[in-house]
Order: sequence, then structure tokens, then C-alpha cells
Amino acid sequence: MVELEEITKDYSIGGRPFRVLKGITLQVNAGEMVAVMGASGSGKSTLLHIIGLLDQPSSGVYRLEGREVHRLSRKERAYVRNQKIGFVFQQFNLLPRATVLQNVELPLLYAGVPATRRRERAFFLLERMGLKDFAHHRPVQLSGGQQQRVAIARALVNQPVLLLADEPTGQLDSRTGLEVMALFQELHQEMGVTIILVTHDQTISRFCQRIVYLQDGLIRGEGKVTEPRRAKEELAATQRSGEE
Ligand SMILES: Nc1ncnc2c1ncn2[C@@H]1O[C@H](COP(=O)(O)OP(=O)(O)O)[C@@H](O)[C@H]1O
Ligand SMILES: [Mg+2]
Repeated sequence: MVELEEITKDYSIGGRPFRVLKGITLQVNAGEMVAVMGASGSGKSTLLHIIGLLDQPSSGVYRLEGREVHRLSRKERAYVRNQKIGFVFQQFNLLPRATVLQNVELPLLYAGVPATRRRERAFFLLERMGLKDFAHHRPVQLSGGQQQRVAIARALVNQPVLLLADEPTGQLDSRTGLEVMALFQELHQEMGVTIILVTHDQTISRFCQRIVYLQDGLIRGEGKVTEPRRAKEELAATQRSGEE
């Protein structure tokens, strides 16, 4: 699904080049759920933005489903992103003036999907996220966990093959974070969508099948999680202990 070869990214700071990614080689197969772990400043967001075609590498090769995408124009990147990739941010990044429904419909609007079909598809996802009753609310009227679920609905509305999430639980309390992780795990199992999730939190990374460790712009190692945590079961367990 994702093949990166020797990807670098330079920023210029005060006219001097500053290398944030120093040669990242990584493969993620279709259907995998992978965590990218690393301290703050290690380059996780930069890497995820490149994978998500929100940004371009300075050098290296990036193949998405076998197609080279590292040299695409901004417009071509936007097109491929719209067709293939869903992105979830730590800060939700919802449009504050638009309704929940309009937020979820937005990628379909860009894709040129007719209004009736847009509405149908957005409602379907809002229902799946347990948010149907909030369709005509503004994002600010929702809790953090609900807003993140709206963002996840928006990320999925185009049926992407790749779902990317940058610290998706970073703004949430631990219980709400657990709910969001349960959702990711369900989507991964039910829809077979490939997920790459960035986190600095070791406990969150253990919900994934594989962990890639990033340090100072380089991959320092990786490991398979033999028994990933199961968010749904952990949630059920906390509910039971709460009722006792
Ligand atoms: N647009 C930018 N311009 C200059 N430096 C940047 C830019 N974006 C990120 N950086 C720098 O790149 C490094 C890695 O940042 P980032 O990818 O956000 O790390 P992480 O997500 O792991 O915290 C940091 O030192 C950061 O200051
Ligand atoms: Mg970051």
C-alpha cells in the first residue's frame, strides 16, 4: 500500500537547511494497522503529512498502491488524497461555521458527488458513528470525543484505502481516547482499511499490530505487537467495574 524509500525532508530555518527526516524507508501493507511512535519533535507529523500527500518529500521515492506519488503537483496530490486517503488530526480540524453534516460531506463535495448521494453517504457514516442526532449541530456544541468521531466520519466518507491519524487521542481524556481507539479497531476489522496512527503514547501504540519507532528523523527500530490491546473489551471491563 505504502512504500517509502529513503525519504528526506528539509526545512529552511533562517535561510539554513534543517533536515527533519533523514532517510525513511518503510513499507505498510494493505490491511495493516501500524503505529508510528516517537518523542515530540522526532518527525512523526512531517512523515504522516508526506504519506498523506499534504506535503512533499525533499528527496526519496514514495509509492502509493504501486504508483509513484512523490513528484505530483499540488493539484494532482489533492486529487489522489481525495480519492485514496482519509486524515484525522489531533485538533479535529472541523470547520466551525459548518454543521456536522456539512463537515462530513465536504470531501464528497470536492469529489463532485451529487448532493443527494452526498447526504446519503454522510448520514450513513454519522449513523455508524452514533452521531445521527447531531447532524445539524455545529462542531462546538459537541464534546471532544464526538468531534473526533465527526472527523473520523469525514475521513471515511470517500471510502479511502488508507486512513491516517496524527495523535487522534491527544486531546481526549483516557476513556474517550479508548472509545476512539475502539472505533479505529472496528473500522480496521470491518472495512479492512489500512491505518497508520501516529502517537507519542506507548499505551496507545499497543492497540496496533506493528510499531515503528522514530527518533530524530530516522527509524530506530520496529516491532510486531503479538497481542494488541483490544479497546472494546477494555471499555466493557471499565463499564462493569463502574457498575459494581
Ligand atoms: N514547517 C516547518 N518549518 C520548519 N520546521 C518544521 C516545520 N514543521 C516541523 N518542523 C520541525 O521539524 C521537527 C519535527 O517536527 P514534527 O514532524 O512536527 O515532529 P513530531 O510530530 O514528532 O512532534 C521539529 O523540530 C519541528 O520544529
Ligand atoms: Mg506531531
